[in-house]
Amino acid sequence: MKKKAFITGISGQDGSYLAELLLEKDYDVYGIVRRNSVPENQSSRIDHISELITLDYGDLLDVSSLERLIRIIAPDEIYNIAAQSHVRVSMDIPQFTIQVNALGLLNILEAYKNNCASARFYQASSSEMFGRSVDEDGYQRETTPMHPTSPYGCTKVFGFNMVVHYRHAYNLFASNGILFNHESPRRGSNFVTNKVVKSAVEIKKGLRKSLPLGNLDSFRDWGHSKDYVKAMHMILNHTEPDDFVCATGVTNSVGDMCKYVFDKLGMNYLDFVTQDERYLRSEDLKYLRGDSTKLRKTFGWKPEYTFETLMDEMIEHWLMFYNNKTK
Ligand code: NAP
Ligand code: GDD
Repeated sequence: MKKKAFITGISGQDGSYLAELLLEKDYDVYGIVRRNSVPENQSSRIDHISELITLDYGDLLDVSSLERLIRIIAPDEIYNIAAQSHVRVSMDIPQFTIQVNALGLLNILEAYKNNCASARFYQASSSEMFGRSVDEDGYQRETTPMHPTSPYGCTKVFGFNMVVHYRHAYNLFASNGILFNHESPRRGSNFVTNKVVKSAVEIKKGLRKSLPLGNLDSFRDWGHSKDYVKAMHMILNHTEPDDFVCATGVTNSVGDMCKYVFDKLGMNYLDFVTQDERYLRSEDLKYLRGDSTKLRKTFGWKPEYTFETLMDEMIEHWLMFYNNKTK
């Protein structure tokens, strides 16, 4: 019998790559999408697989939809990928962020426990949970203390701890993937990598003159979403429920990233990048670099993309996009 996977956030960056991976592995893939007044706006990442997956309307804030679908589908694996995932936006809409990411997680954990407790549950936890903490050797890992610096980070700490608690209290197969930043051409264009790449290509094509950014001095450990959804599947198919960091171990500053992208396009980023306080954060997380030794040793996971090949793929994507547009 085919395995059944239920994915919240299937229309997002990770949800769409995860759905593709699970289809390749011969799963029946189910997912929820929120009601949107312009449905086309939210299906662009999954249109190409729409005939192969089953979508229903649902929302992490609507317990009835979660209960009903989990009961009817009886999935083998539940991936809770949905979230208000933007850190800066979580400072503008903290209550909404907490409702979706924290109470929404609790809603789906309860629906899982009460209706399908033999399934396995994956929670999309985040390196943003570490916040101000860096171990002495300059890395963050499973044992690093959590000191989040944003409402988003606080919701993810809540989610992480609830998953561990439900695992122990109710003997559930519930696991956390603590994923560091991961990007792709499908990344929302208000996250810094895709914003920089898309804008740099627009500057190259004469479609814009400058690129306003916030903090250029923060460091991130950037990987590719395609590599990271493979880790999600490995974590849920382990012999026991557990928590794993997923990261490349390489860190670059936002300024380094701008330099790489503009250099590739034959431009000097210093001629175009400006600082705009609208994109600064009231508290920014300065430095992330993950140690994923546990994941690598347990499953043999390693990323196929480097920082450079990730950026190259994103640059290629936007060049093709604008070339096709002007044809
Ligand atoms: P994303 O592209 O922003 O996708 C988020 C998804 O969640 C979208 O499909 C969104 O649907 C859905 N969603 C939002 N609120 C919902 C709600 N109330 N009910 C149901 N669905 C809802 O994010 P991503 O980059 O794929 O990240 C996936 C998950 O991993 C998130 O939980 C994020 O916090 C976490 N994470 C991401 C990273 C990263 O670097 N990408 C790193 C660590 C952890 P709409 O399109 O309708 O809004
Ligand atoms: N978005 C954005 N826009 N960020 C900027 C900008 C800008 O104009 N200018 C500088 N930055 C800096 C931010 O201050 C931050 O230090 C860094 O770029 C990365 O910002 P984002 O790309 O928005 O990602 P993030 O690190 O805040 O959050 C992402 O990674 C987390 C894992 O660590 C998200 O995907 C979260 O969902 C995820 O959990």
